[in-house]
Amino acid sequence: MPENKVNTLITDSPSEAAKVLLRGGIVVFPTETVYGIGASAFDHNSCRRIYEVKNRPSDNPLILHVENLAALNVCASLNPAGKLVFQKFSPGAITGIFPKNDPNLFTADLKTVAVRIPSNPTARSFLEFCNVPVAAPSANLSGRPSLTKMVYILEEFSGKVDCILIGEEPQIGIESTVIDFTSNPPILLRPGFVDFQDLKEILPEIQVLKSEDKTRNTSTEAPISPGLKYRHYAPICKVILTENLENIPSDAAQIGFRFYEDVAYQIRIDSNEAYMKSLYSFFVECDKRKIEEAFCEIPKEGRGKEALLNRITKAASK
Ligand code: TXA
Ligand code: MG
Repeated sequence: MPENKVNTLITDSPSEAAKVLLRGGIVVFPTETVYGIGASAFDHNSCRRIYEVKNRPSDNPLILHVENLAALNVCASLNPAGKLVFQKFSPGAITGIFPKNDPNLFTADLKTVAVRIPSNPTARSFLEFCNVPVAAPSANLSGRPSLTKMVYILEEFSGKVDCILIGEEPQIGIESTVIDFTSNPPILLRPGFVDFQDLKEILPEIQVLKSEDKTRNTSTEAPISPGLKYRHYAPICKVILTENLENIPSDAAQIGFRFYEDVAYQIRIDSNEAYMKSLYSFFVECDKRKIEEAFCEIPKEGRGKEALLNRITKAASK
């Protein structure tokens, strides 16, 4: 169904963007992980419009973005484990799931709420001007790669959202680490820049979500993270995770640590950090070039490996 064109304000002013949001608008804004597409968490109609624009399944809840710990405490009931993790890693790329404090917040009918405090300066200034929690999933069409560059945002969202806020581009490139603090012990649902090892140092009891309980908390039968049951992050092309990039077809693309002359498109990276930053742009560029196969080299040991493998494996599982 063709959507009605919307007048999109494109601005680098966080206060202008906040005005649009507070009038009921939808705003795309940068964070340190990926771009977000947000509405006031108190405005349920605007939140529902985000689902239409993204074509997102209606049972997949949104993360609430707030400016600081005081605002976070208004939305969510933090327990000691949650406090510890947020004091250490926030502002930053970490999302916690807690019981929700305010019934008026949009949470796709769940009693829990996902919250995070971004560190991106543009996002922080925007959230301060908003002075309400901003419900925002990643700014991409549902199931497709998250977007990390303004050029892609302008192509995808001009005419579909009320405002696009231009600011500091995402530094990390993949989505935040998500931890469910409503289970005991807490469960790492989605690895990110902050990884299991980092979390274990301050929370030795933390567990990783096992693949068999992707959608249900086995003790309570409550849905754990609705988003986990959907295929994610996938470009149109076929994604192949490989140890060896040597013999890939010349019309294929590759991202990896080595350089090869005879491929249609490649991104060469020198660290897992650079890999995280480039992965989604690589997918987007492969689709723009109508490349059929995208080969991804296995990341190096150490920080980022767990998160990269998580995203690449999901993208590869069609
Ligand atoms: O880095 C990020 O987290 C980015 C930026 C924009 O902040 N956002 C993002 O949002 O990745 P999204 O919607 O693409 O991913 C949020 C994940 C989904 O898998 C969703 O199901 C889960 O968090 N989630 C949100 N609220 C939840 C809740 N109350 N209980 C369980 N899972 C929840
Ligand atoms: Mg997403």
